[in-house]
Amino acid sequence: MSSIIENRQITVGVTGSIAAYKIVDVVSKLVQQGAVVDVAMTSAAVNFISPLTFQSITGREPYVDMWGVHGVKGEAHIELARRTELMLIAPATASTMASLAHGFADDFVTLTALATKAPLLISPAMDSQMWDHDATQINLNLLQERGAHFIGPEQGRLASGQIGTGRLAESQKIIATIKSCLGKLEGDLTGKTVMVTAGGTREAIDPVRYIGNRSSGKMGNALAEAARDRGADVVLITTVPETAPEAVEVVAVESASEMEVAVSDHLERSEVLIMAAAVADYRVDQASEQKIKREHAKNIDLKLVPNNDIIASIATDIVKVAFAAETEDLIDNAKKKLLDKNVNLIVANNVTGEMSGFGSDTNIITILDDRGQIEELPVLSKYSCAMEILDRISDRLGS
Ligand SMILES: Cc1cc2nc3c(=O)[nH]c(=O)nc-3n(C[C@H](O)[C@H](O)[C@H](O)COP(=O)(O)O)c2cc1C
Repeated sequence: MSSIIENRQITVGVTGSIAAYKIVDVVSKLVQQGAVVDVAMTSAAVNFISPLTFQSITGREPYVDMWGVHGVKGEAHIELARRTELMLIAPATASTMASLAHGFADDFVTLTALATKAPLLISPAMDSQMWDHDATQINLNLLQERGAHFIGPEQGRLASGQIGTGRLAESQKIIATIKSCLGKLEGDLTGKTVMVTAGGTREAIDPVRYIGNRSSGKMGNALAEAARDRGADVVLITTVPETAPEAVEVVAVESASEMEVAVSDHLERSEVLIMAAAVADYRVDQASEQKIKREHAKNIDLKLVPNNDIIASIATDIVKVAFAAETEDLIDNAKKKLLDKNVNLIVANNVTGEMSGFGSDTNIITILDDRGQIEELPVLSKYSCAMEILDRISDRLGS
C-alpha cells in the first residue's frame, strides 16, 4: 500500500524564523515518502537557511526570487499555485502571518499562498511575546475564519531561553496533519467518523496493581492512522495515549468500564466502530481502596466478575468490527464471535506467531464477514492490515 502522500504536489513556504532549520527534516521526510515537494522561501528565510539545502533534498530548485524567470513559460508563482495540492507555511513568522491575513503578496511565499486554491497549513514559530500580541492573535483569527489550518505553535523552550508558547510543532505532527488534510481532499472515508479502540484494559486490584494483558495498542494505532489518512475523523479510545498517532482525537481510558462509557459517548457521531483493544473479560469485584499489604504465607482470593461485552451490546446501525486474538482453533472461535457479538467483520489473528500479535509491527490476519466470506491475508505491516480492513469497511459504507 503506497503512502497517502506519494506523488502528491506539496509546496512548503519557509519564512524568516530561527526555527527554519527544523523544516529541513519535514521536507526530507515528505520526499522520502514519495511527495513532490517544492520549496518557496522569503528573503528573510535565506538568512537562516540556504536554498541549496532544500535543492539538495528535493532535487528541485527552490523558489526564492519572485522576479526570476524560473524556467517556466508563464508566471512561476501561478504555475506553482495551480499544481500545488497542499501548501504548508512552516515556520511561519508573525510578519508572514500578517501578510497572509491581509492579502499582501510581496514575496514568493505570500504570492503563491494568495494565488493557490490548495488548502493552507500554517505552522507558526516565534517568541511567546510576539505570539501573544493582539496583532498576531487577530491575524490568527482572520486566517482561521478563512479556513487556514494551524499546527501549533507548541509550548516549550524558545530560542530566547524562556519557556512559553511559540515553538514550531514537531515534524511528525506537521506530517500527520498534512496526511490528514490530503486524506480529506479525496479519501474514501472523508466525512465519516471512525471510532477505534486500542490497547489492553487495566482492571484495578488496588491503587497500585492491576490485571492487564499483553496488547501494545499497535494494531489500533495503525487503524486510527490509516483511517485518518483516508480522510476520516478518527476518535481513538486508548489505554496507551502516549503512543497515539498525531491528528486524531484521543480519549484516554484505563478499565473496560471506562472504555464502555467512552465508546457510548462517541457512538452517535460514528459511522464505524473498530474494537481493536484487548478488553478484559473480567474485573475485580471490589478493588481495594488502599494498597494490599503483603502478609507472609497467606493466600489472597480475588473475586472476578464479568465485564460487559462492549461491541455486542451496541444496537445502533453502524459498521462494527471486532478482533479475535486466539491461541488455538482460530477460525472456529472467530466464527463463533462473529455471531455472538453481532458484528459485520471479525479480524482473527493467532497471537502466538512470531510475525503476528502483541507488540509485533506485522500481523497475519484472517478477515471473516457476516456474509460468510473468509479471507486469509499474508504477513503484512499493521498499517497495511489496517488498510485491508478499511477497504472492506469502505465497501460497506458504499463510499
Ligand atoms: C535572529 C532572528 C530570529 C528571528 N526569529 C523569528 C521567529 O522565530 N519568528 C518570527 O516571527 N520572526 C522572527 N524574526 C523576525 C523576522 O525574521 C522578521 O520579521 C522578518 O522580516 C520576517 O520576514 P518574512 O516573514 O518575510 O520571512 C527573527 C529575526 C532575527 C534577526
